[in-house]
Amino acid sequence: MSATRLMDVAELPEDGAMPFTVGEGDWPLRGVVVRRAGEIRAYVNHCPHAGHRLDFPPGKFTTPDGAWLRCASHGALFRFEDGECVAGPCAGRYLKTLPVAVQGTAVVLLEEAAPL
Ligand code: FES
Repeated sequence: MSATRLMDVAELPEDGAMPFTVGEGDWPLRGVVVRRAGEIRAYVNHCPHAGHRLDFPPGKFTTPDGAWLRCASHGALFRFEDGECVAGPCAGRYLKTLPVAVQGTAVVLLEEAAPL
């Protein structure tokens, strides 16, 4: 199984989120790695409401209190733990999960993931 290095674990703030891009051209994979209570997960940076990227300004993924991931376009709120939208225009839908793991000091994407 191939693995693509995304970032150092040390770069990822506790209860925070960091964007990444894999690939080039017009349609790279844009994602976000999140950490909550020591667990690390990743989602495609694509809102299930209207398909916009979640972060605006770029890199800003959370509510001011850090409790939720937030889509800046229309305010949808998502759980860190599973990407479910708990409030907003896409309530009940989910961010697309990406397979990641910690290998040594790095967060890696475990397989070539298709953009969308
Ligand atoms: S595009 Fe995300 S809430 Fe509308």
